[in-house]
Order: sequence, then structure tokens, then C-alpha cells
Amino acid sequence: MGKQTLGFNKALGDMAEALNSDMTASEKLHRLVRVAARALGVRGCSLVLLDAQKRRLFHAASQGLSERYLRKGFLEAEKSLTEVLAGRAVTILDVTTDPRVQFQELARQEGIVSILGVPVRIKGEVVGTLRAYSRPQREFTAAEEQFFISAANLVGVVLESGRSNGREGQSTEVNGEPSSQLTPLTSQVKPFTFAHPSEEEFVRLLDFYQIEWIYEPRSFILRWEGKAEERFTPDFYLPALDLYVEMTTLKPGLTTEKNRKVRRLRELYPEVNIRLLARRDYGRLLAKYGHGPLAGEKTHGVGRVLLSASRIQNRVIRLAKEISQDYEGGHPVLVGVLRGVFCFMADLMRYLAIPADVDFMALSYYGGESGEAVRVTTDVGMNLEGRHILLVEDIVDTGMTLSFVLSHLKSFRPASLRVCTLLDKKARRLADVQLDYVGFEVPDEFLVGYGLDYQEEYRNLPFIALMEEGKTQPQAQDTKMGPE
Ligand code: IMP
Ligand code: MG
Repeated sequence: MGKQTLGFNKALGDMAEALNSDMTASEKLHRLVRVAARALGVRGCSLVLLDAQKRRLFHAASQGLSERYLRKGFLEAEKSLTEVLAGRAVTILDVTTDPRVQFQELARQEGIVSILGVPVRIKGEVVGTLRAYSRPQREFTAAEEQFFISAANLVGVVLESGRSNGREGQSTEVNGEPSSQLTPLTSQVKPFTFAHPSEEEFVRLLDFYQIEWIYEPRSFILRWEGKAEERFTPDFYLPALDLYVEMTTLKPGLTTEKNRKVRRLRELYPEVNIRLLARRDYGRLLAKYGHGPLAGEKTHGVGRVLLSASRIQNRVIRLAKEISQDYEGGHPVLVGVLRGVFCFMADLMRYLAIPADVDFMALSYYGGESGEAVRVTTDVGMNLEGRHILLVEDIVDTGMTLSFVLSHLKSFRPASLRVCTLLDKKARRLADVQLDYVGFEVPDEFLVGYGLDYQEEYRNLPFIALMEEGKTQPQAQDTKMGPE
């Protein structure tokens, strides 16, 4: 038997022993999670359970994760590792690029790179997921996955006994429907509630714009006087902006008191970035993320934001760094295909640390007698012979456009030719093209914003969003007539 198999056997033995001990159910869960994390050699492990409405997920028992990470915004059942809830084991290789991870920026700050998720079931019904978090990028082996599934089964056993104990004398009905609420076990680890309705409203806006948040992230000590100390706990922390936010009510008396506390906090903790936010200020803050006074008109027809402005910027900065390193000492020419690429090109080239030229070309698609044909309507203006070309694309879908453009560029006999695309819609690939730099892998959905259009609209959105259900016609992305 391999060393690892022995390790897993021992771990399962430890778990069985815990199950058969006189620990409380909650202690048993914590033990199982800890033993699983150790056996897999991962930095953290968490049991994430569905709430009674099956809408949100919350961390019920974890190991190796910071308090801050555990208090992050709601994990939506629809957005977070949904395949696991459908009953499958899933490996996320890189949290920063995988759209199945809901809080990518926070995960990155927590030092998480890969995640293994397996379903937790009670008598066949999926009630949550068991997740292992790894700092180095890691592919989990079949044996590791099998071990983790066994651990999840044991978790299910503990939850089931917790549930049957909790039934006595307690209603498990929610809105007249029987619920799988795991009382009393998980009632100790309920997701938090908001102190004020305006906070909930603020959170809805943050969620729409995919801005990650943590509620009441930490307390700052403002004053020590003997045993009495004065503390201040800001309402939110927004990791992408490194900003604490304190909401103010409309009562002037309370605002004065809050102002005093915020002033004191700034004196004592000058490195902390905090803002008092009145209701009328929401707009101003959100404008940073592209939600200005015109938002209503600008975003009509937009379903949900897939990539927020700050996530795009962070990713573009990292791509530019990678490219600058690879071309160090060189002087490449960036070639963009109009029009979708103009936002990405403008940002990318400003973050490059090497000299670079830029040129553009434009294409059009014609439906002719012999079917559709693509042709170059505006060619590059520079002499590309012997140059190092980096072709910059907004999105690669079927790959047909890209392979046409690549063969066109090859005819200029460049010294080298590489491809950088912001978005990769892998699921729809037909042409086999090599992508050297990819910003994000995106699902097979029609996307708009940050240069991408639907019938010439939405290019000016600073984020990338999905269209509202039913808004795009199916032919919209397939019939390409005239310039893009
Ligand atoms: P491909 O030839 O199928 O790879 O298509 C690439 C081109 O189609 C891109 O350069 C875009 O102009 C357009 N495209 C593909 N998917 C989308 C989308 O989701 N939104 C907007 N334009 C798209
Ligand atoms: Mg394009």
C-alpha cells in the first residue's frame, strides 16, 4: 500500500473514532474537517451548508481559513460551485480565473489557488459541500477525491444525527414547507443578519456589481481606560478597494457621534482607508465601478455582471506584467482587431513596462453566394516584417476569426506571432488556435461591456455582463454582417 493510502486509512480511522465518541455533533464536524485537511495536506478545509431556503451557503465548520474569509458576503447557491450542489466532485485549478468561484478577489487575498469540492448528502439529498483549499496550484488525484468523498459521507452521518436530535419539539417548517434545516446543529452557525435595512440595500447593489464585501470585518479599539475600552466596528470592508465603509443613518445626532469615531480611527490607524457613507453617497461610490447617474439607461437589458471593473483591471495588470517579462529587452507591436478590442488594448498597453507599438485592423463578414466570408476591410498600416507581433483580441469564441487573422498576419513574415485574449469562450471552439495569454475563461453566454457590443450597444460599460434572459436573438452572435 502506498504511503498516501495509509495516511487516508488512518484519517478515516480517526474520523470513525470521533463519530463514535461522546463529542457534541459540532465538535465532531470540526474534528472531521481538521482531519480531512491534514490528510490531504491542504491549507484549509470547510463544510459549507445550504440554508433552509437552499439559496445561500454558509461555512458551518472550518479549518485554516481566516475569520475575515468566513465573514465574506453571501455565498449564493446559484453562483458558487453549482456543480457540486448538483452532486458532482469539482476541482477549481485557479480561483482567480474560474467563473465558478464567487469571491475570487477574497480567495486570492486569502492565499487560495485551487479548490476541491465534493457534495455532502443526507440520505441522498445534497445539503452542502465539503471544500479543500490549496495554496499551491494543485490537481487532486482520484484517490484524494475518493478519500474526500468518504469524509463527506461521514459528515452527512453527523448532520443526520444532529438533525434527528433537533426535530424534537422544534418546528422544521419554513413557510409551510418542510425544510431540511439542520437544527439545532447549524443554528449555532447561522449566517449573520444585518443591523439596518440600508445595509441590506447596499449589499444588493454591491452584489449586482459583483463587488466583494465582508460584513463587520473587524473591530478597532479607539480608547483604553482601565478596563473600559471603546471599540468601533465598521459595517463593511470592500477588498477590491481596500476600503472600510460605515453607513450613516439619517439621524443627525448619531451621525455626529459616528463622525467623531471615524476621525479617531483615522488618527489611530492612518493606514486604514474608511469612508462614511450616507444614502445619497451610494451613487458616488458605485460610480467607481461604473454605476453612475446614467446607470439605469446604460445598463438596461443587462442581466448580471460577470466581471466587475476592478476584477478586469486587476487581471489586465497581471497580464501586462507577464507580457512585459516575456518580451523583456524587446519591442513588440500589438495588433488589435477592431472594434471590440479597443478598451482592452488601451488598458493593456498602458500597463506594459516595455516599449511597444500599436496597430489595428478591421474585418467584415459578408454573406455571399458561397456562404459567409470574412475579409479585411482596414489592414495594418505598419511594416510587420521581422517584427514580434502580439495579436490582442477581446474574445475568442469559435476561433474562426482568430485563425483567419493569424494566417493574414503570418503573410507579413513577422519574427514571432503570439496571441493575447481577454476572454476565452472555450466551450464553443471550432478552430484549433493557440492562445498564449488569456485573461478569463468565460461561459458560453453572450457578453457585453468593456468594448463588447450587442448591436453596437453597451461597449461603454466598464464591466462585462450577461444580457438579460431573452434579450439577445439567437442569430445575434452567429450572423455577422458588416463590420463587427
Ligand atoms: P469567433 O470567430 O467565433 O471566435 O468570434 C470572435 C468575434 O465574435 C469576437 O471578436 C467578437 O467580436 C464576437 N463575439 C463573440 N462572442 C461574443 C460575445 O459574447 N459578445 C460580443 N461579441 C462576441
Ligand atoms: Mg473582436
